[in-house]
Amino acid sequence: MRIIITGASSGLGEALALHYAIPQNELVLIARREERLRDVAARCREKGAEVEAIITDVNDFGRMQEIGSELSQNQIDRIILNAGVSVGHSGGVTPFEDFERLFKTNFLSVHALLEPIIPKLIEQQSGEIVFISSLASLLTMPTSIAYSSSKRALNAYAEGLHYQLKPYGINVMTIMPGFIDSEMTQKNRFKMPFFMSREKGIARITHAIERKRMRYAFPFRFYLMIRIVLLFPQSLRDKIVHFTNFKKGG
Ligand SMILES: NC(=O)c1ccc[n+]([C@@H]2O[C@H](COP(=O)([O-])OP(=O)(O)OC[C@H]3O[C@@H](n4cnc5c(N)ncnc54)[C@H](OP(=O)(O)O)[C@@H]3O)[C@@H](O)[C@H]2O)c1
Repeated sequence: MRIIITGASSGLGEALALHYAIPQNELVLIARREERLRDVAARCREKGAEVEAIITDVNDFGRMQEIGSELSQNQIDRIILNAGVSVGHSGGVTPFEDFERLFKTNFLSVHALLEPIIPKLIEQQSGEIVFISSLASLLTMPTSIAYSSSKRALNAYAEGLHYQLKPYGINVMTIMPGFIDSEMTQKNRFKMPFFMSREKGIARITHAIERKRMRYAFPFRFYLMIRIVLLFPQSLRDKIVHFTNFKKGG
């Protein structure tokens, strides 16, 4: 299989690259930190995979479109759009710069890369597009407005793409994880409910991909709690969010 993974220099992207690093696979890994990405690529090669490492900032949309066009010269079996950033706020108005950075990285960069790739997948009449969204896309806390908004935009995009590409035999999947051990979560200074090891998280994600789940949110108990809260009347939701946010120190 030829698999493209963005944000492969650390965390979930690195673990996904190593998971798919088997002799039958050709991997294309994308991220900014050159030394980190080259190290991941070397470890994937040691496991027998053929690997191309592309050092770039996904916010360079022109470059992303070029990369998309170049990669479309050959078969593409799976593309995992994982590159992402988060920023938390303890209070006050979210700075515009944070909104801009999160929307560019977590959302707009995705279509910059996919625009030239989608016609290739349609021509192939096959392929898989996997979006790494977040449970935070389902319920927006006042401390993570920009992050949740960017991930919710991603869900909306993925949903439309699913309807657009299903008739061509292309599977579009949206994965919504809770808290998993990574550089991103290591920065969090609050208690993360249902915190999961990277191994466990990657096992869940790869299993969902193999089963071609259109939408997969986990851990299940955390997801269920959010779904239940969303069923409550707004006045009760307000109290729960206020209480949870207070406990987080927001
Ligand atoms: N860990 C969790 O609990 C959790 C939960 C829900 C969703 N997620 C999502 O999972 C994805 C991976 O996050 P992670 O937890 O593994 O965090 P991480 O360890 O910080 O990894 C983020 C990856 O994205 C890349 N990246 C960030 N900005 C980039 C840019 N401008 N250009 C190119 N690459 C960029 C980073 O590479 P460089 O810095 O080298 O560029 C890195 O490889 C994100 O989309 C995140 O929102 C994570």
